[in-house]
Amino acid sequence: MPAPPDPEDSTTPAWRATLAGLSEDRRVAFEVRLERWLPDLRDGLLAAYGDQVTPSVVPRLVALAATAYAARSDALHRRDLERTLRPDWLQDPSMVGYAAYTERFAGDLPGVRDRIGYLRELGVTYLHLMPLLTPREGDSDGGYAVADHTTVRADLGTMADLAETATALHEAGISLVLDLVVNHVAREHPWAVKARAGDPRYRDYFLLFADRTEPDRFEEALPEVFPEFAPGSFTWDDELDAWVWTTFNAWQWDVSWANPDVLCEFAGIVLDLANTGVDVFRLDAIAFIWKRLGTDSQGQPEVHALTQALRAVARIACPAVALKAEAIVAPSRLLAYLGEGSSSGKVSDLAYHNSLMVQVWSMLASRDVRLAAQALSVLPAKPASATWLTYLRCHDDIGWAVMDDDATAVGLSGPLHRRFLSDWYAGDFPGSSARGLVFQHNPVDGDRRISGAAASLIGLEAAEEHRSGVLEAAAALRLAHALVIGFGGLPVIWSGDELGQANDPHWADEPGHDGDNRWAHRPRLDRDRAELRTDGSTAAGRVHTDLVHLLRTRATLPQLHGSVETRIGPVDDPGVLVTLREHAVGRFVGVHNVTSETRWWPGWRVEDLDAGGLVDALSGRPLERTHDGAVALAPYAVLWLV
Ligand code: GLC
Repeated sequence: MPAPPDPEDSTTPAWRATLAGLSEDRRVAFEVRLERWLPDLRDGLLAAYGDQVTPSVVPRLVALAATAYAARSDALHRRDLERTLRPDWLQDPSMVGYAAYTERFAGDLPGVRDRIGYLRELGVTYLHLMPLLTPREGDSDGGYAVADHTTVRADLGTMADLAETATALHEAGISLVLDLVVNHVAREHPWAVKARAGDPRYRDYFLLFADRTEPDRFEEALPEVFPEFAPGSFTWDDELDAWVWTTFNAWQWDVSWANPDVLCEFAGIVLDLANTGVDVFRLDAIAFIWKRLGTDSQGQPEVHALTQALRAVARIACPAVALKAEAIVAPSRLLAYLGEGSSSGKVSDLAYHNSLMVQVWSMLASRDVRLAAQALSVLPAKPASATWLTYLRCHDDIGWAVMDDDATAVGLSGPLHRRFLSDWYAGDFPGSSARGLVFQHNPVDGDRRISGAAASLIGLEAAEEHRSGVLEAAAALRLAHALVIGFGGLPVIWSGDELGQANDPHWADEPGHDGDNRWAHRPRLDRDRAELRTDGSTAAGRVHTDLVHLLRTRATLPQLHGSVETRIGPVDDPGVLVTLREHAVGRFVGVHNVTSETRWWPGWRVEDLDAGGLVDALSGRPLERTHDGAVALAPYAVLWLV
């Protein structure tokens, strides 16, 4: 096999020529990074493409990295240096995330700059703006059908606005997070247009089939992502004269990562956006990028190998940049996105803790922590350098990712419990005041996912309407947020949840939205509620004040640094979840009553965990105990003992 380029190679590879005009210091920094990251890059490529193809791909990627490096601004080079010196920046307990659609949060990109003060009040240091590159016209799956990677959606601004917004955010201590929609492009994207025009180079960017033979074989093992509005995973296209792989909607064409040209294209997109100031890329639907017959074509080993390669390219050119895996997969398959075995810590830097999100909602509905304790304890430890992204809600529906084994271990039936959760959150179960909407009912497997804003799911919307039970619902929301914020990971608040905002009753009115009820929980930020955010006598004020307090307290607790593993404590009362974190500065014990009744934490357990002398960081008070040493936990009480 021909040797991949050696940073010391005397035959002057392309990257050396690209950097020739830079200062000596800049050139040395690039070389040192290349030495550091080339093995990760090469290993990733070898695992995906093998030793025949890899030697020709390495120099292409290194050349792209060098070009981007040479074009990077001084301010961003400085950011690179800062993060090289502080590689745990995403794990710091002061990190607070917020995610929003630009237009729904602030109208447009200049509007985002005007709302930086609002974000800082919450303590936000990480802002995920939902897809804002030019999408296809009409339904674009919330922007996840990108038609042009080089421009911003016209109504939101320009690339220059994006760069200015990034700079303004950086100056306010906020990192900018954007989606990199890696699995597909819009049918209207130039690559797809050229493929339809018959250009063989671009036909190879997609997965095309002349007839149904192969699609049928693949489909035997493929689950349907959108069974209601896009059944099946392949779409016939007359202009292509072929079936094209479309995991999601018919107009979202999966690209073929088995083709290294596609990797190089995406590397170029990452590097360009990084140079406009993007700090974190959310790798949308990353699980799906490698297909393998006979499997569900999710999370194949090549997915992780290619992520590793992409990350290595970014580390060489712009190490301020991190990657986040959007892999909403079974807990047992999640760790691979952060790297396992010899890839540990080399794949994505962040991954969504979907299991925690599901278990928080499960605990609240069932008022029982036993399933959560089981599911969260069997999840293997993540790499110490990687970070969970913890969240209560996001822009997507909730799929009830409860493993049958975990359910069985605590005496439940997986299918029945999943059905219960759908019924509960759709408001169809006696006693539930939730107002979720069923998303993508799949009659084949009984799957009924749920859309809905946190306030609507937790009963706050109903309580506000009936003017009864508001305090209790707000307390439940505080508890839910506390579980997410105190778990250890980077908590991300979904826009509107900081005000306890309910479902948007007019979600279906906008063009292209009516078939997709996820828009119910993507409301425009309610300005009237925002005005009330410091008025604790209102529901909005209560929720906001609680959230700010949780986030500020978190920022003071080194025990919540993302490198520390969370363990689940023994369950003594089925209504009480205990979390334990051992940090060099001392222990953190989180105690959570997930019920609407007073529960007790036994005195002997307090002794057993050596928690008697600890102080509740949230109230600032020492642990209060009754004469027999037990701790009374008010409905939905939270203690963060340190
Ligand atoms: C991700 C996004 C979701 C989108 C899908 C297809 O799962 O979160 O909103 O529909 O990818 O791009």
